[in-house]
Amino acid sequence: MHVVTKQLVTEYLKDDTTKKRLEELSDQGPNNYTCETWLEESPAKRYIYELIYGPFLQGASQATILDVGGGLTSLTKVLASSHNYFLVDLLAHEQQENVNALQKAVNREFIIPNDWATLGDRNYDIIIANDLFPNVDQRLESFLNKFLPRCSKLKMLLTWYDTPRYYKTKRVDGDEVMFMLAWNGKQLEAVLEPFLPSIVTPHLDLFHESQESVFQNGRQTCLIEFQGGV
Ligand SMILES: C[S@@+](CC[C@H](N)C(=O)[O-])C[C@H]1O[C@@H](n2cnc3c(N)ncnc32)[C@H](O)[C@@H]1O
Repeated sequence: MHVVTKQLVTEYLKDDTTKKRLEELSDQGPNNYTCETWLEESPAKRYIYELIYGPFLQGASQATILDVGGGLTSLTKVLASSHNYFLVDLLAHEQQENVNALQKAVNREFIIPNDWATLGDRNYDIIIANDLFPNVDQRLESFLNKFLPRCSKLKMLLTWYDTPRYYKTKRVDGDEVMFMLAWNGKQLEAVLEPFLPSIVTPHLDLFHESQESVFQNGRQTCLIEFQGGV
């Protein structure tokens, strides 16, 4: 478990493996992939991508992988054709044509265009949640309760803010306008504490340490890995 720091990203950039992989394999769909544009624009996101996905881009396996909110990039095709890979994603940033083209290329319907909470009981070797909790989805505790018993390893990137930040939102099933307050480190720590025995090399003190942000919007992020129950 560690914070994504400027020093780590600078060190990563000496090789920039994700950039190399994208240059080699870039195969944009009928419309450009939004998540690939984010990778191109953010060295920190490329560093995080390499740490989370790198091991699965080095060869094929029989592993069943569930990617929660993983979005689409040129590397999605590699993941889906090398492993028993499934992507559950509301596809907030992607076009249906890209989904269709990817599934056709891999010859398998591996994209589940739904909320992760609707998934049924099934076990996975690896579960990934890169940049979903708790900034986009605050149901982190429910997610861990649902999926930790159903996987052997869970890898996540978590986000928090050291200074107050909120989003003006609107319910999609009603007229109510709501203000969503992004989490701070203290809130994240409180939710993670009960899961301490499952965290690989836990270091919850990191939520008390202030770091220079590696993102333009000032957010803090940490990579965390859990040992699941399977
Ligand atoms: C901030 S983006 C991150 C995308 C990608 N993982 C990355 O790091 O660039 C959040 C992603 O989660 C998806 N998403 C949001 N809520 C979701 C939910 N409840 N279930 C599944 N996917 C969800 C969105 O469609 C989007 O692709």
